[in-house]
Amino acid sequence: TRILFATSEVFPLVKTGGLADVSGSLPEALCRLGYDCQILLPGYPAALKAARDAGSQRKARFRFGQYDVSLWQTQVPETQVLLWLVDCPALFDRQGDSPYQNENGEDWWDNAHRFHLFARIGAMMALGQLGLSWKPDIVHCNDWQTGLIPVFLHNDKHAPATVFTIHNLAYQGLFSHETFRALGFPDHLWRFDQLEFHGQFSFLKGGLVFSDAITTVSPSYAREIRTPEFGYGLDGLLEHRSHALTGILNGIDNRYWNPKSDQHLDFHYSPDDTSGKAQCRAALQRKLGLEVNGAPVLGFVGRLVEQKGLDWLLEALPTLLEKGCQFAILGSGEARYQQALQHLARDWPERLSLTLGYNEALAHEITAGADIFLMPSRFEPCGLNQMYSLRYGTIPVVHGTGGLNDTVLDPGEVPVRDANGFVFREPNAHGLKRAVNRALEARKHRKTWQQLQQNGMTADYSWKHRAGEYAALYNKLRHNQ
Ligand code: ADP
Ligand code: GLC
Repeated sequence: TRILFATSEVFPLVKTGGLADVSGSLPEALCRLGYDCQILLPGYPAALKAARDAGSQRKARFRFGQYDVSLWQTQVPETQVLLWLVDCPALFDRQGDSPYQNENGEDWWDNAHRFHLFARIGAMMALGQLGLSWKPDIVHCNDWQTGLIPVFLHNDKHAPATVFTIHNLAYQGLFSHETFRALGFPDHLWRFDQLEFHGQFSFLKGGLVFSDAITTVSPSYAREIRTPEFGYGLDGLLEHRSHALTGILNGIDNRYWNPKSDQHLDFHYSPDDTSGKAQCRAALQRKLGLEVNGAPVLGFVGRLVEQKGLDWLLEALPTLLEKGCQFAILGSGEARYQQALQHLARDWPERLSLTLGYNEALAHEITAGADIFLMPSRFEPCGLNQMYSLRYGTIPVVHGTGGLNDTVLDPGEVPVRDANGFVFREPNAHGLKRAVNRALEARKHRKTWQQLQQNGMTADYSWKHRAGEYAALYNKLRHNQ
């Protein structure tokens, strides 16, 4: 079975969040299961450069409207997975590392045009209209950037089946009616049960309305998004399509996230011998200028946005700092959160270290060196960092929502022999503080703590089994075709 996996990010070529990690690892896992899964990605400069450096070839070149478009075929670095790049310099040859924004952090003014073209090419590839020798049986789309692919395919009886995966319902790709018209869509699609969403043009709705199957990245989130609280106005539609909606938990990439071999660490460890973890911890304290002592080190890595519970974290921080906790915080995002954290870092130089920006190596060092990893997310479709932490013997303290709810088990709710972290269900800073305090208490009991660590470190969070759930879905869709 041939799968075209359309995505706007792939680690290590271009990444803003977990979508890149998933796109960099799920296709590989599917290939291992015997699927011919090939990725389609916009031709961002970094990705094209990597392709050219690897000696890759241009497989097609054509005019599309006003645009000059080429398709390059290359491989995801360090894997055998084939990757197609949609090279359209007018739309994708842009300054900066972000696939969506300029260097001032503003969305590119023509994002609708950029991802409309991307989707158009994806659909043409799916229909075998580009003269390539390869044609997919299934098109797997991810998030709003690929939401128009199912729209372009739904009327064609020779089209492959489509799967649309929601990685985050909060990002919807909303544009104006003018843009809808400028892109040449027919009026009949401008309806509330088609692409119109409260007077705007929604790319995400394209995926939700027109795909054959919808998935999201955890079973809990699949339930939550059918309610007004998490549905962002799309809960009605998702409820309506609930027979086609499933939650499949993300897996992690064991090649990059393994405390035994992690290339970003100076010291290594495993469930059988965790002594290296203390060395990672001391190295982290030294590197970040924290006092090198036995105080608990709490880590946070993530986008500094409301989703990640920054307001709860900021409210809880002063009390926890006064108690003697240390914090290693890495992230980038909204100015208001960056500034509030900068203030605290100035007030507590030996207890709170803040690193703004994107830093792959430090993300690994914090995951390994911290005692506790904080994820107080208000909502979390899946979340990968809690699974990275579990694998590294770093105890997660999380809000019981979405994928966090499905992966972290609290000793207050399950027997200690099954538990691996702490979950708070009261959605506020109090809940967070209480859960941190319970974790700090547990840390004093060596046996319990070690049990929690072992449970996390020895569990399997990889794609090995989880990719099989996508395989089952693909097979079902092919069967129905
Ligand atoms: P989301 O996709 O909502 O941002 P996930 O937990 O699924 O959340 O994935 C986030 C990914 O991005 C993880 O691999 C995390 O380590 C990484 N990440 C986030 N912020 C940073 C940062 N500032 N530096 C390095 N890695 C980061
Ligand atoms: C999104 C979600 C995150 C999820 C990731 C990968 O960015 O916010 O929870 O892990 O996608 O699916």
